[in-house]
Amino acid sequence: MQDWLEGRIAIITGSSSGIGAALARDFLHRGARVVINARREAKLQELAAELGPDRVACVAGDASEDATIDRLFQAARDKFEDEADLVVVNAGRGLNGSVVTSDTSQWEEMIRTNILGAARLMRAAAHRLLADIEHSGSSWQQQARDIVVLGSTVGRHISPFSSMYGSTKFAVNSLAEAMRREIGPKGVRVTLIEPGFVRSEFQGVAGYADDWFNSVVERIGPVLTPEDCAEIIAFIVSRPPAVHLSDALIRPTRQDYP
Ligand SMILES: NC(=O)c1ccc[n+]([C@@H]2O[C@H](COP(=O)([O-])OP(=O)(O)OC[C@H]3O[C@@H](n4cnc5c(N)ncnc54)[C@H](OP(=O)(O)O)[C@@H]3O)[C@@H](O)[C@H]2O)c1
Repeated sequence: MQDWLEGRIAIITGSSSGIGAALARDFLHRGARVVINARREAKLQELAAELGPDRVACVAGDASEDATIDRLFQAARDKFEDEADLVVVNAGRGLNGSVVTSDTSQWEEMIRTNILGAARLMRAAAHRLLADIEHSGSSWQQQARDIVVLGSTVGRHISPFSSMYGSTKFAVNSLAEAMRREIGPKGVRVTLIEPGFVRSEFQGVAGYADDWFNSVVERIGPVLTPEDCAEIIAFIVSRPPAVHLSDALIRPTRQDYP
């Protein structure tokens, strides 16, 4: 059976830790080539050194900026002499608290990264993947093309404890489904991944209190690992081009809510 991940060129934003780093490892292991991105260049270089130089290109920078997004696609062409055909819109951050209680000084950065950055990358990816279908001579049925967007369970079910963050994931939920309806018929799969609790750097960045997170783990754990999510994403994008598992809600088994 053909493995539709082998030989593909993936761009993964936010790959210096967590789900993005696990995905880079998983994709590479399955024979894909990867362009990895995050703002912390030293951490990216560490991952690149671990993965080896042949099938990895690094682009350090803020994924919500158009200039960085252009460099991601250019890096694929420079290093692998071809267009990227798989774009994972993963860079993002959480924020503890609601409209009433969260730290307002962090709202703009979160909205810029989680909504505007995601939309800019989705737009750039859609333009390039559609152009590739038109000009490359390889039809959508011969070559899989994917845009994978990281939402969240709190982008589908209302959570009062992180409602500002949740609102950004409600936004990408609707952007992903709208784009799926728009470009799915042309042969590009747009997939929404909605994880529940995943242990990563996310909790520290979001400002969750250790005691609170530990009590969650005690009640519903074990929580997911980034590798659990990566394995499911790799399964989805390795389906034949005419098969689309378009939404995946991934929870720890004992997570009851949200
Ligand atoms: N962990 C969870 O419980 C959970 C649940 C549902 C959804 N998610 C979503 O899954 C995605 C990955 O989260 P994670 O759990 O893997 O968290 P993580 O370990 O904190 O990883 C986030 C990654 O994004 C990068 N990043 C943040 N802002 C960026 C920017 N502006 N430009 C480029 N890179 C940026 C970070 O690296 P730098 O700091 O080096 O830039 C890091 O590599 C996020 O979209 C998150 O919202 C997470």
